[in-house]
Amino acid sequence: MEKYIKELRERLKKYSDYYYTNNESLISDLEFDKLLAELKELEKKYPEYKEKNSLTEVVGATSLKETKFKKVAHKKPMLSLSNSYSEADISEFIERVKKLLPEEKNLTYALELKLDGLSLSIQYEEGKLIRAVTRGDGTVGEDVTENILEIESIPKILKKKVSMEIRGEVVLPLSKFEELNKKRLENGEEVFANPRNAAAGTLRQLDSSIIKERGLDAYFYFLVDAQNYELKTHSESIEYLAKLGIKTTGVCEVLNNSSELISRIQYWGEKRESLDYETDGMVIKVDNIELWEKLGNTTKSPRWAIAFKFPAKQVTTKILGVTWQVGRTGKITPVAELEEVELSGSRVKRASLHNYQEIERKDIRIGDSVFIEKAAEIIPQVVKSVKELRDGNEIVIKEPTHCPICNTEVEREEGQVDIKCPNVSCPGKIEGELIYFVSRDAMNIAGFGSKIVENMLRLGFIKNIVDIYELKKHREELEKLEKMGKKSVDNLLTAIENSKTREYSKVLCALGIPFVGKTSAKLLADSSENIDKLMSMSVEELMEIEGIGDKMAQAIFDFFRDEEKKKLIEGLKAHGLTFVQEKKEELPVQEKIFIGKTFLFTGTLQNFTRNEIKEEIEKLGGKNLSTVSKNLDYLIVGEKAGSKLKKAQELKTIKIISEEEFMKICGKKN
Ligand code: IVH
Repeated sequence: MEKYIKELRERLKKYSDYYYTNNESLISDLEFDKLLAELKELEKKYPEYKEKNSLTEVVGATSLKETKFKKVAHKKPMLSLSNSYSEADISEFIERVKKLLPEEKNLTYALELKLDGLSLSIQYEEGKLIRAVTRGDGTVGEDVTENILEIESIPKILKKKVSMEIRGEVVLPLSKFEELNKKRLENGEEVFANPRNAAAGTLRQLDSSIIKERGLDAYFYFLVDAQNYELKTHSESIEYLAKLGIKTTGVCEVLNNSSELISRIQYWGEKRESLDYETDGMVIKVDNIELWEKLGNTTKSPRWAIAFKFPAKQVTTKILGVTWQVGRTGKITPVAELEEVELSGSRVKRASLHNYQEIERKDIRIGDSVFIEKAAEIIPQVVKSVKELRDGNEIVIKEPTHCPICNTEVEREEGQVDIKCPNVSCPGKIEGELIYFVSRDAMNIAGFGSKIVENMLRLGFIKNIVDIYELKKHREELEKLEKMGKKSVDNLLTAIENSKTREYSKVLCALGIPFVGKTSAKLLADSSENIDKLMSMSVEELMEIEGIGDKMAQAIFDFFRDEEKKKLIEGLKAHGLTFVQEKKEELPVQEKIFIGKTFLFTGTLQNFTRNEIKEEIEKLGGKNLSTVSKNLDYLIVGEKAGSKLKKAQELKTIKIISEEEFMKICGKKN
């Protein structure tokens, strides 16, 4: 055990030192925190193996030996925060505070965003900025004054001649981060794993002009010894900072109990996606500053505050191999096969590598430790590989010269990064087309998942899209298949039959015309009475349709000139699929009761899908809006309504109605 604890401690120290000297992480924060928690647990269980300078007791950097900057001692240590991850942790924190302060009846809490950057302390004297210091090891930091002077949003002179020390976070705005990584990739430089690493790398540059160039920014959330400025609460101190010209996030909500805190944390958990800086959680602070002293600190963190961490978006794992996938358009894309990890609540085994150029530029190899992340995309992406953890056994990834499915030589269109399989009857491509055809946004054939498509193809029951409608010929053979059975075959065949009544726009979408998704398919259906009309349109005519650009128009035109596609459409017509746009019945004006009124809905509705309610509103002459604003007349509220409802309540001019009330107004319910 002693050996294990020692190794764990050394491993953590290596990661930590590397981060503080190179501004780059070797593993994700999540893994680091997990290892640290394990060490803490072991040190508790085996106190005899505890060491004085263990990472479990020290804040931040453990070795400042190699710093290029002047070392400065903090007047007051820069503490860290203890972390929490669940609603229960928050309630526990609140209960703990209450227990320590039995006398206090009206405890309130300030809730703030937890910025994911690097902490900074700034000293002002008589309103003049005199020094800026990083956290360092919490006791001694690095003097980065010269660099900080280049951050435009940090005032060099305050609006009043006060002397004080403030603490905050240096961040690189997301827009700037993306710009920077794009440039680095183009120049063949290593990309930064995340905005925090980029901010750290930028702040600790010796050439201060780079700071301005990259657009580094800072937000402040703490006034040291606020009680000396006649301030009673933390929230007042934040207002005070803002009045002096210091940038704050503007988010410091005063709340009363754990349920209010939890509900606002949920709100910000969604809202944070729209901010231009990275947040990794929220911070809860007892608002009354007087109580801070009573609550005191542990070695690492104050007892009057706690951080709530949002689920990590980034984790590190290993690439075990690469497979090349053939999509429905023939595009061949690399997918990383990973050592399984958990990421934002799901198990992840594969991640996108985009294209070969990206693999080459980022020098990603099989066997590499990699950062993977789930951002706005649902599919995880490989962000970068960690070169420092290579042991020499990594394998360089090669771009295929032949299709991995049908072995046809691949092609690359001029100026394009992607390679394609040119074979129209490539099984990989057909499988992709079939999966897309039956998918939700297209024909939405329930129970026809990608596994079944794969099986049907393999067994030769279907060879192309039209064959789906002839699958009933194989009923008996299907029933004999493992895991199928009579009932599920019945269901599948019924779902296939029912799909024949899917509206024209869905069928158009399902055809898989390049660049045409469900929204553009709807535009096309609305502007052409039937498919014959659509097929006869010229590129110019197609471009006249609102929302259809030149690239898409050309793709649609070419698609309908392809003999194979013409055959497909004929085949589907013969099976009775819908290729005609249904006429919408237009109501007489006197029945359009919503003329001049605007609507928006929020939450889950019971009686309508999103599209249905929008159509109902339009049918009655109303207009759908996408955001809450003064222009909105009605907000229809379903279950689990979120931020839109709150905003509408704040505006006070909006009529807030339930789904039921809405149905009564349109005469759908008495
Ligand atoms: S208060 C003694 N407030 O998170 C309390 N910290 O994990 C000092 N951070 O060291 C910290 N946003 O670098 C505080 N609104 C916020 C914060 C915040 C980000 C950082 C800070 C701190 C770390 C703790």
